[in-house]
Amino acid sequence: MNAPTQSPADTLRSALAGLLDGLPPTQAARAVDRLIASYRGTTPTDAPILRDRADVAAYAAYRMPATYEAVRSALDALAGAAPEDWSPAGHLDIGGGTGAAVWAARTVFPAARPTTVLDWSQPALDLGRELAAADPWLASGVRWERSRIGAAPGLPATDLVTVSYVLKELTAADRAALTAAAAGAATGAVVVVEPGTPDGYERVIEARDALIAAGFHVAAPCPHSAACPIVPGTDWCHFSARVSRSSLHRQVKGGSLAYEDEKFAYVAATRFAPRDPRARVVRRPQIRKGQVLLDLCEPVPGLDRVTVTKKHGALYRAARDAQWGDPWPPRP
Ligand SMILES: C[S@@+](CC[C@H](N)C(=O)[O-])C[C@H]1O[C@@H](n2cnc3c(N)ncnc32)[C@H](O)[C@@H]1O
Repeated sequence: MNAPTQSPADTLRSALAGLLDGLPPTQAARAVDRLIASYRGTTPTDAPILRDRADVAAYAAYRMPATYEAVRSALDALAGAAPEDWSPAGHLDIGGGTGAAVWAARTVFPAARPTTVLDWSQPALDLGRELAAADPWLASGVRWERSRIGAAPGLPATDLVTVSYVLKELTAADRAALTAAAAGAATGAVVVVEPGTPDGYERVIEARDALIAAGFHVAAPCPHSAACPIVPGTDWCHFSARVSRSSLHRQVKGGSLAYEDEKFAYVAATRFAPRDPRARVVRRPQIRKGQVLLDLCEPVPGLDRVTVTKKHGALYRAARDAQWGDPWPPRP
């Protein structure tokens, strides 16, 4: 049983820490190498990349802390754009693997809700269920269901649908079918997260366009539902989430840094109109002597750089605290 003050993130960290117990470090490193090779290989594949317990343990140790933080950031942005008392009444996580998005939703929206994780890898679902046993809410509230994306004719209606780090593994036809199915199932919001690379951004834009065509509003990161103002091929919209590295994480990934930054791209689209859309900080703010430079994506579609100086008083102090990915200006 958890101590009452332990956050879901801490519970997840402890659950992950026990994961490679008994596995010699060289064997853990070998499983990670195999995983990296599979993910660098030609995807999509016809069969799950996560084939056995060693694969999923390596995935959970090597990637899950980072995908958890990325989805948590995306859901935080969704919460910031949703009506103040909004919390999803149900959650479907497609290609959920070991359950990173379920832990993230548990963190951002703490009220209990029926949750289903769909994935075609049984070992991933088994490990997800095992990790979730560390949290009473997740232990009882989550169904782990084996399902192949593309084969299912439809998905059950639910308030929140998440698709995190999955589109990259699908063919263009399956990506389109999945986004359409997610849009058809979501009564509240769809959140898609991909790696923060140029091609990850392109897949997010493809999903964003499909969600808008299906009648959704873009709640985050964009402060509007018009076309993305980035000229294709010149840049890509992405963000960064800090991931603290446990000793286990350092052992598996090598290196000694206490943290790493996970770059990700995302879209959170809602059936409801987002509240008071504000600009978003789309690069790391540059702090200079007496001024802060903020690169913004504006509600009146366009990119802009604003300089906030000491003369702006409280706004300047807020700008010094502003983070890449935050809405701007802060709410009073
Ligand atoms: C990179 S992992 C992401 C897992 C999890 N969503 C996360 O953010 O950590 C991709 C997941 O998608 C699942 N997946 C890929 N293609 C699939 C398909 N055709 N049907 C069902 N699941 C699939 C994989 O088994 C894997 O668990």
